[in-house]
Amino acid sequence: MTRVLSGIQPTGDLHLGNYLGAVRNWARMQHRTDAFFCVVDLHAVTVPKAPGEMRAVTLRLSQLLMAAGLDPETCTIFVQSHVPEHTECAWLMECTVSFGELSRMTQFKDKSDRHDFISAGLFTYPALQAADILLYDTDEVPVGADQRQHVEITRDIAERFNSRYGETFTVPKAVVPAAGARIMDLQRPTDKMSKSLDSPRGSVGLLDEPGAVNRKIKAAVTDSESEVRYDFEAKPGVSNLLSILGAATDRDPADLAGEYTRYGPLKADAAAAVIELLGPLQARFAELEADPAETSRLLQVGADKARAIAAATLARAKANIGLLEPLAQPFE
Ligand code: TYM
Repeated sequence: MTRVLSGIQPTGDLHLGNYLGAVRNWARMQHRTDAFFCVVDLHAVTVPKAPGEMRAVTLRLSQLLMAAGLDPETCTIFVQSHVPEHTECAWLMECTVSFGELSRMTQFKDKSDRHDFISAGLFTYPALQAADILLYDTDEVPVGADQRQHVEITRDIAERFNSRYGETFTVPKAVVPAAGARIMDLQRPTDKMSKSLDSPRGSVGLLDEPGAVNRKIKAAVTDSESEVRYDFEAKPGVSNLLSILGAATDRDPADLAGEYTRYGPLKADAAAAVIELLGPLQARFAELEADPAETSRLLQVGADKARAIAAATLARAKANIGLLEPLAQPFE
């Protein structure tokens, strides 16, 4: 069966971009693949966090993923820091990727422009992401378009490692959805929708109430023309609304454009489709939120399953490099 792995940072609640670009696809794929989904808390601490903040955010994001349809009985959901092989393997990845390759990562360039303190971890972030992926012999990595470059560098790392030390890692490929791969900020439609942009009016949270969804989508920035056309270069705001409506209703955004002659009805339909999509998810989240102990139990089951696979792959990588094995593992 095809092995799938993807990850998401606990940096706040999910937004519509995460959902339409990635998580909804994960929920669909889990039924026909052997799927692993990882809440990447160690990636989130590449930018400083308040003590204790991560605990609640990680739990809540895990509940949101389950509410969004990831079923722990069908797929494996776990927290990155619960599987210590990720950080150990990341060192091997750091030694297989070059300074120049890491310097060319656009996510690093964007984030380092936005922060005063640029940690070494922010720079080596893609090496940890490569470890996340390669530890599971992953065939496919379902992500939004912004993560393509990180999957490409993971492929390069896997190929280089395999040619240096012999066949060790499966070389994975990115899987990006046709609609929803790049949902843009509603107020600044040339920037991707994200939580860190300080643009609460530009980003729709999965837990936003219907009134807020309506307000934000109706206030979305468009342009001074009135023609509805799917053309991200010339009409980013309108195209983003078509993308949202298309992804939410499983329609082709370019086809949808032909059905509208004014912006108002397009906004109204996009808002209604998003509200309909989020309703059941919000109801499930309320149930899960009421039982954090059960979420922790499910995450433990996920980590145990993940660790068995990760440990075997890491052992293979170390053996292929030819590190001297200890006589016994001290704590096992
Ligand atoms: P993150 O946490 O930023 O985003 C999680 C997923 O959501 C997608 N996404 C979007 N898709 C469409 N439109 C948007 N505006 C939008 N914003 C986010 C992302 O493409 C992603 O699929 N580095 C990764 C996390 C990661 C990872 C991994 C991913 C760590 N290890 C291993 C895959 C495999 C990240 O920061 O995603």
